[in-house]
Amino acid sequence: MNFDNIEEDIIKWRRILHENPEPSFKEYKTTEFIKEKLLSFGNIEIIQPAETRVIGKLKGSSQGKTVAFRADIDALPLDEKTECDFRSKNNGIMHACGHDMHTAILLGLARILSENKQRIKGEVLFIFQRGEEMAPGGAAELKKSGVLDGMDMVFSLHVMPGEKTGRIGVKRGTATANKDTFDIYVKGKGGHSSMPQQVKDPILIGSEIVTNLQSVVARNVDPFNTAVISTASFKSGEEYGVIPDTAHLTGAVRTFDGKTRETVKNRMKLIVENILKAYEAGGEIKFFENDYKAVYNDEELCDIAEKVIMKKFGKDALVIKERPESFSEDFSEYINPAKGCMVWLGVDKNGKENPKLHNPYFCSK
Ligand code: NI
Repeated sequence: MNFDNIEEDIIKWRRILHENPEPSFKEYKTTEFIKEKLLSFGNIEIIQPAETRVIGKLKGSSQGKTVAFRADIDALPLDEKTECDFRSKNNGIMHACGHDMHTAILLGLARILSENKQRIKGEVLFIFQRGEEMAPGGAAELKKSGVLDGMDMVFSLHVMPGEKTGRIGVKRGTATANKDTFDIYVKGKGGHSSMPQQVKDPILIGSEIVTNLQSVVARNVDPFNTAVISTASFKSGEEYGVIPDTAHLTGAVRTFDGKTRETVKNRMKLIVENILKAYEAGGEIKFFENDYKAVYNDEELCDIAEKVIMKKFGKDALVIKERPESFSEDFSEYINPAKGCMVWLGVDKNGKENPKLHNPYFCSK
């Protein structure tokens, strides 16, 4: 295969992307940049074009499977604080999750494969997806549109601070968490703080809910499995002497399999409904419907990924991951019926750990 200047190209592209980040669903210039590069390779067709996403299709020399590779292209609403010489030119927007790297690497792959088209059986799709950082995300809409029907397998990578450059992590099976965000509304009855007998105090009721939700992980989840329930906000009242009418709580749940996900959500619902009932208050718990489910890495595709990593970069490059990551990724949307595999790309250099993802100091040179 011809790899002339590919590394230089990828680094150059990545730095341009890093300097010019765009927020979720507003990736206009990024999309133009990707389209221009894909078309410059000469034999990649752009399918289902949109202003803020691109899918490139490369037809091989004979019939075969459809293999897709996916990169996410959006940045985060953060002010970059790194000192790097290609830091963000767009105030308040930053590539702090490595999507600049994902995009540049996928462009590099597209270039290599387009130059070796005659060796490809089947079709290759290069999915440059918008809005990964903002649920419902850019993957679900692509899946729904039908443009990916017939895709047999899909690969992706995500940069991973905490792992050395040159090492690639593979986690078989569940690789990320299910995420479920929730709102809890408590409708009590406010009044004078000196006359508690006349009120239905939403702060007391909300506090009971916060405390009792922690019993779900402690008493309903198998100790060899795991889950996290975090209440992240509790808003109610403003005055020293007034018991308010309502409270609003929000938070997020992380689980790693479908059964635990359902158990946890059902228990949470029961606890909230029954505490409200016990205090004769109104209200409800609502789960956001478009949160991301866990990424499930297919065994067979993990075999392929592991073999390629060892063959190309040596045994030491492969990191067999024992634990899934606790964050979520909408790559999970592409999986089923297609098989999927997402790997973790180490980005720590010179013995220094990179700041974590979504951090204004995150940057890998
Ligand atoms: Ni990301």
